[in-house]
Amino acid sequence: MAKPAAKKTPRKTTRVSAPRTAPAPAAAAPKAPRELTRAELIDELNKDLAKEYSALIQYVQHASVITGPQYDAISAELTVHSNEEHLHAITLSDQIDFLGGVPDVNVADIHISPDSKTMLEQDLVGELDAIARYRERIGQAELLQEYGLRRALEDILVVEEEHARDLQSALDL
Ligand SMILES: [Fe+2]
Ligand SMILES: [Fe+2]
Repeated sequence: MAKPAAKKTPRKTTRVSAPRTAPAPAAAAPKAPRELTRAELIDELNKDLAKEYSALIQYVQHASVITGPQYDAISAELTVHSNEEHLHAITLSDQIDFLGGVPDVNVADIHISPDSKTMLEQDLVGELDAIARYRERIGQAELLQEYGLRRALEDILVVEEEHARDLQSALDL
C-alpha cells in the first residue's frame, strides 16, 4: 500500500527587498504628450496667451521706469519687445479660435521693481519660461498634426529667443 503523500508545507520564501535605487513613483511626472487632447492643447495655449498679455504690460512699464545711462539702449528695446508680445497674443488668440476654442482674456502675473537690473532679470525669467513653454507646445502641435499651429509657434519661439539674448546681453550674462 502506497504511503499517503506527505502534506506539503509551504516553503518559506525569502523576500527580496526592493533596490535602494528604485525609481520614484511617476505620479508627478508631466502628462505624456500622446495623451494630450485638442481641448487640453487649447487650455495650454490660453495659459500662453495670458503670459503674452502680462509680458506686454510688464515691458511697457519697465521701458518707462528703467533708468541709468547703461540701460538707454535696452529701454528702447523693451518697447520693441512689448509690441512683439502683442503680436504673439494676436497669433495665439487666432490659433485658439481656429482650433475651435475661445481665447481667454486673462492676464498672468506681472513683475515690477524699482531696481533697473532686477527688472531685466524679471523679464529674462519670463522669456526663459516662454521658450520652455513654446518648445513643449511645438511638440504637442506636431503630435496632434496641427502643422499650421506648429509653424506659428516656431515663429514665436524664434522671437522669444531673441528677446532672451537681448536681455542676457544687457545683463552682461
Ligand atoms: Fe511673446
Ligand atoms: Fe518675449
